[in-house]
Amino acid sequence: MKVYFTRDIPPNAYHALRDAGHMVLVNADERVLPHDEFVREVAKIQPGALVTTVDDTVDAAVLDAAGSQLQIVANYAVGYNNIDLAECAKRGVVVTNTPDVLTNAVAEHAVALMMSLGRKVIEADRDVRSGAFASWQPLGYLGTEFSGKTLGLLGAGRIGSRMAHICAKGLGMHVVYYDVTRNELLERDLADAGGAFFCATPDAVLRQADVVSVHVPLLPTTKHMLDGAKLATMKKSALLVNTSRGPIIDEAALVVALQKGTIAGAALDVFEHEPQLTLGLTSLPNVVLTPHIASATHEAREAMAQIVAKNILAKFNGKMMPNEVKEQAR
Ligand code: DGY
Repeated sequence: MKVYFTRDIPPNAYHALRDAGHMVLVNADERVLPHDEFVREVAKIQPGALVTTVDDTVDAAVLDAAGSQLQIVANYAVGYNNIDLAECAKRGVVVTNTPDVLTNAVAEHAVALMMSLGRKVIEADRDVRSGAFASWQPLGYLGTEFSGKTLGLLGAGRIGSRMAHICAKGLGMHVVYYDVTRNELLERDLADAGGAFFCATPDAVLRQADVVSVHVPLLPTTKHMLDGAKLATMKKSALLVNTSRGPIIDEAALVVALQKGTIAGAALDVFEHEPQLTLGLTSLPNVVLTPHIASATHEAREAMAQIVAKNILAKFNGKMMPNEVKEQAR
């Protein structure tokens, strides 16, 4: 069977598929294919499996172009908001993702963003490089400590829970969380570290938290979950971290909130109109911005590639796929 990768990923996926006798075709360009080009490539190749990334929109046009050969779309990501699950289901095409193996990487990046923002690491690094480091400063670069502060999670699944574990057990933070259901596993995990307290509404988290970290998936119901009104609910001193999906935050409203001092700062790995940035964001002093790299560790990306191959091989061999995804409740 032909397996088409829209981007080059760690080669362990290619080896596993070739060893099993399949043909691996990779878009070797270091760029995302514009949608019309993506459709043309898929029409030309007629793959049995399509390996996509967060930047590839898999919709009816792509699926029609792929034709009846296509059995599986294996997304090289845990999030799958780029894929129209209903259109895939209509055509009997299964969809898989890469959960678990990137949990640590993303949670650790969320912590890194939180600490970089709170301790002004980026600003300080910039000043050292530019030669602005003239002396130790008694009043310069004053940041915030995290010990004893409250981490508020919007979404307490695998990644949110891992961040909570690191922050509670490693940094001595208190944890409050909002999710659609209670996470008893998390509550038990943190029982000896101050606990994790469920809040029935996002507002209850926003009102209490010193750091708000976003970990909900992007769904119609979570788009702009943090709009201007919600941001105004947060403490003036609060920091906001987003490693989930950009559109969960109304980015224009966030820029205004940061300009006005409604909240103290934001650290973002994802953006509403990625890779475009909302006007004004890059001129703010109180932001840390990274280019959607939260899962970018050797460990995570290699394990994600392995999972992609495993799911495809399972599908081709008529076995159960370890990571099939189904449409989520909206
Ligand atoms: C994901 O997996 O959903 C990330 O955003 C990319 O690794």
